[in-house]
Amino acid sequence: MKILFLNGPNLNLLGQREPEIYGRTTLADIEAKVRSHATELQVAVEFRQSNQEGELVDWIQQAKGKFEVIVLNAAAYTHTSVALRDAIAATGVPTIEIHLSNIHAREEFRHKSLIAPVCRGQILGFGANSYVLAVDAAIGLDQR
Ligand code: DQA
Repeated sequence: MKILFLNGPNLNLLGQREPEIYGRTTLADIEAKVRSHATELQVAVEFRQSNQEGELVDWIQQAKGKFEVIVLNAAAYTHTSVALRDAIAATGVPTIEIHLSNIHAREEFRHKSLIAPVCRGQILGFGANSYVLAVDAAIGLDQR
């Protein structure tokens, strides 16, 4: 199986960005952790990041027929993007919402996820480990 990891705006700055919230692990470090876990479990992963909402929409649309599961950290677009929500609903590729931080323990504007209703589930609050846990969750979804 193939899992597509998509990362939204400002996640390219992980490691230097608000380390008290997001930790010191870079996105490249997270990708390496995900790859090593996925290799052990014999699944293929692709890992992408964009600051552009439309590019994320394009990637979700293009995932159909190429990836079994999308793992999406939509970052700030989680709370604002009808376009990402519609893309997930339109393509029907099973999608898992993930976050490094526990969005429910933060500012009120982060409590609402526009994408949650069209995702299969959420993994949040475990830092870089949210990504590693998502590999297991994706395999579980594919085997249902
Ligand atoms: C985030 C949480 C979002 O609220 C925030 O805008 C991010 C990162 C997380 O992984 O904790 O950029 O998605």
